[in-house]
Amino acid sequence: MIQEPVSTETAHGSEAEPEATRRAAGVAESSRANRGWWDRNADEYQIEHGTFLGDDRFVWGPEGLDEVEAELLGPPEELKGKAVLEIGAGAAQCARWLAAQGAHPVALDLSHRQLQHALRIGSSFPLICADAGALPFADASFDLACSAYGALPFVADPVLVLREVRRVLRPGGRFVFSVTHPIRWAFPDEPGPEGLSVSASYFDRTPYVEQDEEGRAVYVEHHRTIGDRVRDIVAADLRLVDLVEPEWPSWNSSEWGGWSPLRGSLVPGTAIFVCVRD
Ligand SMILES: C[S@@+](CC[C@H](N)C(=O)[O-])C[C@H]1O[C@@H](n2cnc3c(N)ncnc32)[C@H](O)[C@@H]1O
Repeated sequence: MIQEPVSTETAHGSEAEPEATRRAAGVAESSRANRGWWDRNADEYQIEHGTFLGDDRFVWGPEGLDEVEAELLGPPEELKGKAVLEIGAGAAQCARWLAAQGAHPVALDLSHRQLQHALRIGSSFPLICADAGALPFADASFDLACSAYGALPFVADPVLVLREVRRVLRPGGRFVFSVTHPIRWAFPDEPGPEGLSVSASYFDRTPYVEQDEEGRAVYVEHHRTIGDRVRDIVAADLRLVDLVEPEWPSWNSSEWGGWSPLRGSLVPGTAIFVCVRD
């Protein structure tokens, strides 16, 4: 989800507005920038979105699609006893719902501050601070893996992450992940009518970068087209079994950044990829 540029503290202690641009950003730079961004902005993020997410609901994105109805990880009654890895867990709301179904979740996130919010809300399961590109688990440790807008929109090398997920999954295991729908990159990230006119090429993969006065990235998002995402999944030796584009439901009047009922009624905002490790 492309964020509004947020002021950062400079070496001299004054506030400076980061510059938003499109430029290349590699694996290490993206990871460092996003760790810092999420550590600095976790408090505000949880204040702004915590109520919508719910402490122990599993919501796939701003449309509000709930795993209770979607069952993308399988029927809830079959989650009991399953070892599940949540990647980019934030405050671990999804992992908390999984634990309530009798699963054994592990919540992993790059941001220490996000995981402190998981502790604040309460967790009966492990919280791991690590990068999704280097999962600190043995091969075949999990029955399932999931990620609701965690890690995949932010990493420079999604195949690296998908290969890591495949490695830690047992044969037959599923990985379900949601990201910003790729079509959104062609439009301004605005919830109103100004967000309905194409303003950029869908085919331009140049990352969205916010950088400080020295040109250091302080926030990065990476764009992949739908075809890129499919090819990434295939390259990681996972099998794509579904691609879900949640429609905006009539009950949801909330805006989330550029996601709104207006845009949601016309253009998809989230893409959810359902993959299997054979
Ligand atoms: C939009 S939040 C989603 C969190 C949670 N699913 C939610 O809906 O609030 C994205 C999360 O991904 C995490 N993240 C970003 N890059 C990551 C990476 N390379 N590895 C692990 N987590 C990452 C961020 O720290 C952040 O908590």
